[in-house]
Amino acid sequence: MTKEMPKERGIDHTFNLLTEGYNYIGKRMSEKDTDVFETRLLGKKMIVMTGRDAAELFYDETKFKRSGALPIRIQKTLFGVGGVQTKDGEKHRIRKAMFMSLMTEERLGLFRTIMEEEWKRKGREMERKGKAVLYDESEELILRGICRWTGVPLTDVESWGRAYDIGAMIDAAGGVGKRYRVGEDARVRTEEWVEDVILAIREGRLQTEEGSAAHVMAFHEESGERLDLHMAAIELLNVIRPAVAVARFVAFAALALHDFPEWKDKLNTQKELNNFANEVRRFYPFTPFLGAIVKKDFEWNGYAFNEGDAVLMDFHGVNRDPRLWDKPEEFNPDRFNGFVDDRFNFIPQGGGDPNHGHRCPGEPVTVTIIEESVRYLANSLQYEVPEQDLTINMVRMPTLPTSRFVMDRIRVVG
Ligand code: HEM
Repeated sequence: MTKEMPKERGIDHTFNLLTEGYNYIGKRMSEKDTDVFETRLLGKKMIVMTGRDAAELFYDETKFKRSGALPIRIQKTLFGVGGVQTKDGEKHRIRKAMFMSLMTEERLGLFRTIMEEEWKRKGREMERKGKAVLYDESEELILRGICRWTGVPLTDVESWGRAYDIGAMIDAAGGVGKRYRVGEDARVRTEEWVEDVILAIREGRLQTEEGSAAHVMAFHEESGERLDLHMAAIELLNVIRPAVAVARFVAFAALALHDFPEWKDKLNTQKELNNFANEVRRFYPFTPFLGAIVKKDFEWNGYAFNEGDAVLMDFHGVNRDPRLWDKPEEFNPDRFNGFVDDRFNFIPQGGGDPNHGHRCPGEPVTVTIIEESVRYLANSLQYEVPEQDLTINMVRMPTLPTSRFVMDRIRVVG
C-alpha cells in the first residue's frame, strides 16, 4: 500500500509559481512538512521533490528520463532544440563525453590564464569609463574569454551585441511576452553566427586548436557521421552561453564582497578563494529546479511514482536545506573547510557524476570565472558602490541584483 502524496489543492498553480518564483517550492514544503508534493503546473500533474535523497533519486537513470521533460519554449531560448540536455542512455553518454573531453587540466589552466588577461583588459576599460555596471561588463568580458578558449573568433565591434544576445537567451528562460520573444530572436541570430564558425572550420577557412571546443564540435562524430551544422552550433553554444551566464555569479560575488566585507581579507590562498566561489554558488539563487519524467513505476518513501509522471527537482532548496547546512541563511565561505561533497548535497549545477548523468560539465569553468573575478575585484580594483537597488528579486527567474551592481570611481590598483 502506498501513502497518499501531499497535494496542492486547486486547478492549476502556474500563477503561484510565476508570482512566488524561487520561494514557491520551499514555502509549500515547509507548510506541508514534506520532501515531496503533487501540484499542477501548465495544466499538468507534477511531482515536486526536495532534499539530498530526492536529488539522488532524480539522478537515478533507471527511474527517470529527460526526453520529453524540457518544455520546448526553454529549448527555443536557453538550451537550443534537441541538445545534450534532452538525451538519454547511450546517446547521452556519447554526446556528454564530448563535453567532458574539453575539461582537461591543461585546457582549464589555459582558461584561467585567459580570464586573468581579460580581467586586466576589462579593469583598464572600466577605469577609463569611471562608472560601470558590473553585470553587463562581466557578460562581455566572459564572452571574450570563452570565445578565445573555445576558438570562436569575436571582433571588438561585435562583442557587446553578441553578449547582449546571449544574455537575452538566458533571461528568456523564465520570461513571458516580450522578454521571451527577445530571447527567441537572439537565439536565432546567435545560432547563425556559430553555424558560420563551424562551417568555416570544416571547410578549412578557419584554423582552430585541436582540443578547443569549436574544433571538437566541428569534427565530433556519432555513428560515423559528423553532427549536422545546426546541432554542432547548438552544442558549441552549450559551452559559450552558460559561461556568459556566470556573469550572474560575478555580480553576486561583488555583492557578497560589498555586504560581507570581512571576507575580503580572507582571500589570500587558493583554498580561501575557492571556498568563497563555492559559497557564492550555494548562497545566491540561480538554477531553481529542473524536470524529468518517470521511466517506469516505482515506490519511494512509500509514495507511488508512475510511468510518465513529470517531476521537478528543487535545486535551490538543497543548497539552503538546514538538514545539510548549518545556518544556511548565513554567508560563510569557511563552511567549505572540511566539507564532504557526496555529489547530492551541494547541487548548484546539478548532482551525481557529470561523466555519466546530466550534471553540469562546466563546474570547473564556472568556478574559475568566479575565482578570477573575485581575485581581481578584491585585489586589483578600487571602486565605490553608489546608492542603488541591490535587492535580489526572488520572483524573477533567473534573478540578479536589481541594479546589476553599479560601480563608480573605478581605479586599477594592482
Ligand atoms: C547542465 C547549471 C555553467 C555546460 C547544467 C545543469 C545545471 C547547470 C543545473 C543541469 C543538470 C541536469 O540536467 O541534471 C549551470 C550553472 C552555471 C553553469 C548555474 C553557471 C552559471 C556551465 C558552463 C558550461 C556548462 C560554464 C560549459 C562550459 C552545461 C552543459 C549541460 C549543463 C553542456 C548539459 C549536461 C547534460 O545534459 O548532460 N548546468 N551551469 N554549464 N551545463 Fe551548466
